[in-house]
Amino acid sequence: MQTIGVIGGGLMGSGIAHVAAVAGYDVILSEVAMDRAERGKASIANNLARQVAKGILTDAEMVSSLDRIFLTVDTDRFADAALVIEAATENEALKTKMFADLCPKLAQDSVLATNTSSISITRLAAMTDRPDRFIGLHFFNPVPMMGLVEVIRGLATGDATMQIASEFVAAIGKTMIEAQDSPSFLVNRILCPLLNEAIFALGEGIGSVRDIDQGMKLGANHPMGPLTLADFVGLDTLLAIMRVMQEGFGDPKYRPAPLLVKYVEAGWYGRKSGRGFYDYTSGEPVPTR
Ligand code: CAA
Ligand code: NAD
Repeated sequence: MQTIGVIGGGLMGSGIAHVAAVAGYDVILSEVAMDRAERGKASIANNLARQVAKGILTDAEMVSSLDRIFLTVDTDRFADAALVIEAATENEALKTKMFADLCPKLAQDSVLATNTSSISITRLAAMTDRPDRFIGLHFFNPVPMMGLVEVIRGLATGDATMQIASEFVAAIGKTMIEAQDSPSFLVNRILCPLLNEAIFALGEGIGSVRDIDQGMKLGANHPMGPLTLADFVGLDTLLAIMRVMQEGFGDPKYRPAPLLVKYVEAGWYGRKSGRGFYDYTSGEPVPTR
C-alpha cells in the first residue's frame, strides 16, 4: 500500500498525515478549502520540526516527509488510495453526507476508515457502499506523540479489512488495541466522563481552573490537567462525544456539564479557537476562571 488518503486537516487529520508520511506513505490530504489544507500542512511542518529538535528525525526526513503530503480540495484524487482515513469534524450528518459523495470515487477494493471519537462504526458503515471494507481507526491527540490506535470493527467489517488496518497501525509504529463498537469505544468511555466531571466541578465552584488542573497533575500524576486536556482535545469535540454517549446509552450520568455547553455556544472551543478554560492569545495560557 503506497498511497493513503486523509480527509480533514485539523488537529487529527494533520497528525495522521504526519505519521503516515514519516512512515513512508504518500499522503493525499483533503480539506474543505485550500487555505485550511495549507494551515494543516503548516502545523505538520511545525510538529516535524519539534521532532527534529528532539533528535527523533533528521532534517532530510522532515523534508522528504513534507514532500510526500499532497493537498487537495478534490476528493476525485482518492481514487489512487488503498486506504482512506476520515478525520473531519465530529458530526454524524456531516460524515454521512461526505461518505455518500466520496464512495463512488474510491477504488472498489479500497478500505475506508473513520477516526470518529464516539459514533457507531456499524451505523456509519451502513451509509457507505462498502460496510465490509469500513473500520474505525481511532488515533489519539497529539498523534505524533501518542502510541495508541484503537481499532473498532463494525458488525459487517471483514477479516481482510481488519488485517489491512492492523498492518497499517504496525507500519506507522503505533500499538493497537481492539475495542467493541459501543458509544465512544474504550478509552474515551473512561476519559471523557473524567474531563466532563472536571468541568462540572469548575461550574459548581469546587475549585479554580488552576487548582483543578494542579490537583490532577500533582495528585493523580496526569501529564496534563483535565481542563488543559479538554481545551487541547477541543470543547466542541468533547461536547459532541458526551452527547453521543448520553444518547447512545440513554443514561443521564453522561450528560454534558452545563458549562461545557455554554462555552461551545460562545464559540470558546479551547486551544484551536484561542480561548477555552485558558486564554491562549498571549503566549503562556492564562486561566479564564
Ligand atoms: N506533534 C504535535 N504536538 C506536539 C508534538 C508533535 N510532534 N510534540 C509536542 N507536541 C505538543 C504538546 O502538546 C505541547 O504543545 P505546546 O508546546 O504548543 O504547548 C507541546 O507540544 C509540549 O511538548 P513537549 O515536548 O513539552 O512534550 P511533553 O513531554 O510535555 O508531552 C504530551 C506532551 C505528550 C501531549 C503530554 O502532555 C500528554 O501526554 N498529555 C496528555 C495527552 C492525552 O491524554 N491525549 C489523549 C487525548 S483524548 C484523545 O485523543 C481521544 C479523543 O477522541 C478525544
Ligand atoms: P478539528 O476541528 O481540529 O478539524 C476538523 C477538520 O475537518 C476541519 O479543519 C474542517 O475544515 C474539516 N472538514 C470538515 N468537513 C470536511 C470535509 N467534508 N472534507 C474535508 N475536511 C472537512 O477536529 P479534530 O479534532 O481534528 O477531529 C476530527 C475527528 O477526529 C473527529 O471525528 C474527532 O472526534 C476525532 N478525534 C478527535 C480527537 C481530538 O483530541 N481532538 C482525538 C481523536 C479523534
